[in-house]
Amino acid sequence: MLKTTDNDLQWVSNTLQKVEKKMHIVANRNKNKIPYTTTLDGKFDDWTNKNIAWWTNGFWGGIMWQLYNLTNEPIYKENAEVLEKKLDRNLMLADKLDHDNGFKWGPTALANYSLTGNQESANRAMLAACNLASRFNLNGKYIRAWNDDSTNRSGLAIVDCLMNLPLLYWATKESGDPRFSQIATAHAFTAQKYLVRSNGSVKHIIEFNPNTGEYLKSHGGQGLGHGSSWTRGQAWALYGFALSYHHTKEEQFLSTAKQVAHYFISNIPENNLIPIDFSASSDQPMWQDDSASAIAACGLLKIAKLTGDPEESEIFISAALKLLHALTEQSCNFAIDTDNLLMRCSAAYHESNHEYPIIYGDYFYLEALLTLSNQALFLW
Ligand code: GLY
Repeated sequence: MLKTTDNDLQWVSNTLQKVEKKMHIVANRNKNKIPYTTTLDGKFDDWTNKNIAWWTNGFWGGIMWQLYNLTNEPIYKENAEVLEKKLDRNLMLADKLDHDNGFKWGPTALANYSLTGNQESANRAMLAACNLASRFNLNGKYIRAWNDDSTNRSGLAIVDCLMNLPLLYWATKESGDPRFSQIATAHAFTAQKYLVRSNGSVKHIIEFNPNTGEYLKSHGGQGLGHGSSWTRGQAWALYGFALSYHHTKEEQFLSTAKQVAHYFISNIPENNLIPIDFSASSDQPMWQDDSASAIAACGLLKIAKLTGDPEESEIFISAALKLLHALTEQSCNFAIDTDNLLMRCSAAYHESNHEYPIIYGDYFYLEALLTLSNQALFLW
């Protein structure tokens, strides 16, 4: 249980009430959708036919399961079940399964299974886990990130993948077969060795020779450029390493999670809103990324829970609260005629679109608030 003041708890409870009031209306308005962002009228778009394999397609399900767990309102469960069944189309497209299986079937099938015991959901999660495990490169000891586009991408691994490992840890618990967890742990060690810089910042993409397993180089990926610190990547790392520690009890993962967390905390700007990259000089445009902030808040709270020392834990809780206050008071939309919560997420530095609602931002914002109030369904 997290140690928070009565004032903090009251603030979280008031914020959650506003969120739930809005999301009840939003859930009823978006019964058959798989949202990614909003359209011009402020209502959710739908990726059911646009791209059933998109990596973010599980997060609306995650929001629904968290709210169902909180309220027992049937609408949330119904929406989540509809979405989970729609994702079966992706399970049948082998070339469109990738390392993001964890993001797609964790907040959907696994959440369903853990709340209801539904066996079909367990089957979906196990198929997704088997496919994820099959992406492991034996010589390089990494999980391959993406499938080929016009180039061969079998040598690429990315920081985001740390968040997909819990699906493998679950598969070992569920099946009794240690191979899934062995693969996840080996990948986490590789990520620790090659992704994390000595100052606690992390790279986005690393490249290996897929035949020999030799480490070749890193790429800037979704951040500003090579050598920069893409903030969502920092957030995936601090949360992801904490989760690997949670599942394996390997102390090294917790110290790395803390190292990245301290780097993140020391770079939080004065207004407590997170830019898309920490490495920009002032002459470069720097857009806000609320999703990095929300994910980091979840990770910081997880690290606080895993840390035995109350004083140390307090550092991470207070940083998470700072981020959540800033999001709630400066970048959250509680109006009921629009569907999103967070307003200024940015998917990648070099994309043309920035500072718009993105569904995973809302998922992690909700998860962080629920974690602080000890009401979160733990999905990782
Ligand atoms: N997993 C991709 C991203 O964070 O944008």
